[in-house]
Amino acid sequence: MGMRDKYRKPTTFRCNAGSRCSMSAVVWSLVGFLLFLHLYSLFSHNGGKDGEIQFHSSHHPLIRELEQVEEDNIQIPPPRGKRSPRAAKRRPKRTTTLIDEFLDENSQLRHVFFPGMKSAIDPMNDAGNNSFYYYPGRIWLDTEGNPIQAHGGGILYDEMSKTYYWYGEYKDGPTYHAHKKGAARVDIIGVGCYSSKDLWTWKNEGIVLAAEETNETHALHKSNVLERPKVIYNDRTGKYVMWMHIDDANYTKAAVGIAISDSPTGPFDYLYSKRPHGFESRDMTIFKDDDGVAYLIYSSEDNSELHIGPLTEDYLDVTHVVRRILVGQHREAPALFKHQGTYYMITSGCTGWAPNEALAHAAESVMGPWETMGNPCIGGNKMFRLTTFFAQSTFVIPLEGLPGSFIFMADRWNPADLRDSRYVWLPLIVGGPADRPLEFNFGFPVWSRISIYWHKKWRLPSVWRA
Ligand code: GAL
Repeated sequence: MGMRDKYRKPTTFRCNAGSRCSMSAVVWSLVGFLLFLHLYSLFSHNGGKDGEIQFHSSHHPLIRELEQVEEDNIQIPPPRGKRSPRAAKRRPKRTTTLIDEFLDENSQLRHVFFPGMKSAIDPMNDAGNNSFYYYPGRIWLDTEGNPIQAHGGGILYDEMSKTYYWYGEYKDGPTYHAHKKGAARVDIIGVGCYSSKDLWTWKNEGIVLAAEETNETHALHKSNVLERPKVIYNDRTGKYVMWMHIDDANYTKAAVGIAISDSPTGPFDYLYSKRPHGFESRDMTIFKDDDGVAYLIYSSEDNSELHIGPLTEDYLDVTHVVRRILVGQHREAPALFKHQGTYYMITSGCTGWAPNEALAHAAESVMGPWETMGNPCIGGNKMFRLTTFFAQSTFVIPLEGLPGSFIFMADRWNPADLRDSRYVWLPLIVGGPADRPLEFNFGFPVWSRISIYWHKKWRLPSVWRA
């Protein structure tokens, strides 16, 4: 075999019926085919109604200002006091991180993470230029001038009264440790409820589900744990149904609790608690889909995975259908929402009250499979983004009339004094290609990117407020 043949051989091969194809033609066809597949999946997934082709949800001019990337340059203060050379030898200097500063009650940066009462958001007195502004992390007062107590909460929009209701953990009691190694806790007081027409001015509607003071065997006995209450309305039964995480002080019961009411402002009757599908259930949420089917999503198997399953028609129980999702990913604090037929979810890692990195996930069907996209946080600084702005997801509020725009609700926990935990509300925008799955998406859906933008101060567009 001559030299020419020797080099030619690998670049040609026999196709059907013995015809010879050039390798480059095959390569180019393959490239063309993959490009076609890629464009097809891009368009088919994000295509507008009636076949109209649309790139990722174009950003509404009204929300452009919310998408501005705001940097925040927090400097770690130098260590206080001089260390003796002996002390320095015994214990080498540890570099302080912003998380250490955040968790240190005596940090010089305390006022940055937990600003004092003077800077509180006070809708009754902040009218005029300051009205409708959210200041993530500041104390937020209700219409009576008291700090809002609705931690680990969620929002129900009540069509009947055209009112928003914010339910959450009412934690206005002393923080203590049930035992040395136990997590910081506040006795159950109950579920707080606040009402609002504008998502900024909140009227205290009282405790709509109260703790049990005397009966120690009751799930709601004050020595237990009631976290992350969420309420949805059942159109068939006309009842407001509340689901919550119910536990003992050691978090070994790992159950859900269900309560029911005829009115969004309660009182809610506690029905029972159980381990859904027989599995452990800790951090959880519920999600009502457009077709009226509602789902329970909970951290299970030692928080190593999430489970999702539909509720019964009356929303008072789970059915037998359940799927394991994000298996082995150790996620909690799930917050679900939907945009243009795609389901999205924000979760946190599992580090107790300490903040950690959020992740966004997406799915074509609410029952999965769910794909993890990456960290949705934008702006602030790297530490802000790696700690979800020093907060943990709890709920995502859809904004009627602003498709693709949502409010991300998170808790900035204060484990030294849990009642003083703060709310971090920020704009969450769906749009633009996600970075990760794009590269491998041969025929699979391309998810839009989820972005949560840091702002020291922001408000919803005036059109929405009106
Ligand atoms: C977090 C969880 C909170 C609460 C806390 C207790 O991981 O998201 O809801 O349970 O742990 O340490």
